[in-house]
Amino acid sequence: MSHGEFKKATVFPATDGFEITCSDIAPDKSISHRCAMFSLLSDRPSHIRNFLLGEDTLNSLNIAAQLGATVEREGGTVTITPPARLSEPSDVLDCGNAGTGMRLYCGLLAGVEGSFILTGDKYLRNRPMNRVTKPLRSIGAKIDGRDNGNLAPLAIRGGTLKAFRYESPIDSAQVKSALILAALRGDATSYYKEELLSRDHTERMLRGMGASISTDEDGWIAIEPLQAPLAPLELTVPADPSSGFFFAVAAAITPNARVTITDVTLNPTRIEAYKMLEKMGADIRYITKEDLYEPIGDIVITYAGKLRSITVEENIAWLIDELPALSIAMAVAEGRSTVKNAKELRVKESDRIATVMSGLTACGIECDDFEDGYTITGGEIRSASVDSHGDHRIAMSFAVAGLLIQMEITDIACVDTSFPNFFDILKGITKVEL
Ligand code: S3P
Repeated sequence: MSHGEFKKATVFPATDGFEITCSDIAPDKSISHRCAMFSLLSDRPSHIRNFLLGEDTLNSLNIAAQLGATVEREGGTVTITPPARLSEPSDVLDCGNAGTGMRLYCGLLAGVEGSFILTGDKYLRNRPMNRVTKPLRSIGAKIDGRDNGNLAPLAIRGGTLKAFRYESPIDSAQVKSALILAALRGDATSYYKEELLSRDHTERMLRGMGASISTDEDGWIAIEPLQAPLAPLELTVPADPSSGFFFAVAAAITPNARVTITDVTLNPTRIEAYKMLEKMGADIRYITKEDLYEPIGDIVITYAGKLRSITVEENIAWLIDELPALSIAMAVAEGRSTVKNAKELRVKESDRIATVMSGLTACGIECDDFEDGYTITGGEIRSASVDSHGDHRIAMSFAVAGLLIQMEITDIACVDTSFPNFFDILKGITKVEL
């Protein structure tokens, strides 16, 4: 058993609507992982405020400590003092449930002298790693694991890496980031290209730390090997738009509801799902307040009547994590919605096409799946008990459906991987029994 399969939540309808300002949405998961890892590329302490205290990102922080960093933490304020040289850990490095943790550490450690074993929970140990191990092996990395290096535990023998020119077959920020981290330890300039720009926190943060990473007009990213340690990170992690999106959907589907999410990253590669919700009929405003590695501000979502159906087939990498929650909006919209080109959903924390379909079917919603997507015919959601299958985003998406009709969600401990206070915020707008 992992993640406490027996924990469950019952969410009751919010019949009178609600108006809340969420200034405690979980800090961004992608940026928090990167803070833990990139601080190791400096020779001075990095100061991070509002670090995500979720299981996934705390695992990344633990791994930084196992590699020799001194980590001082008071709540979400973390100082990470890197060692002069990353050291060989005396134990395996446990990434828990985090694909980001495992794939990025793979790229980072492939070029570091020493032996490292990356492992994770039963879900992560079944997710494909050859998307990073294959290109890394082709530049000289020594990585092995079950299924010819595809499945964790992964054993890495770090060493010298060759420069590369690699056109990725998938638009994945995890693959891109792993390759960029490896390129920093390459023997000459490396080049990386993806078809659609995936989330670009890695490029923005490493550039901010002084790395030479540039993108030409054809989308090729040129990465120069590090000549010296980078400047440390100084930042307050913004709120996570993917976590905020559960409450965006909550506002969009509940009459008389409004949610304000404060200090969230407004990076265009992260807020595409909000644009889709807007297209479906929700009233959404974006207020940019500052720029720290990326634009940051508030998003205000107001219920504006019954939602309309939508077809989602472009810029999929920009909303891949939000599709389960967007599917709840589709389930109550007028008409038939379609999601296409989303086969990546099959290899997330669960097969999210299958888990969204089984959850919606339990709720009496007509839906149909195909290899890389699905259709949902909007209707009236029926009260149901939905299994999260250990997937945090499935648990939270169906909990939000509970605002309209009573929902039971089983196996909810996985929510702690990315959004430990999710149910506390939900309790602020409706009755929840845990
Ligand atoms: C992430 C990238 C995305 C996303 C994941 C976090 C990241 O995965 O789904 O939750 O932090 O780089 P892919 O890069 O596999 O698309």
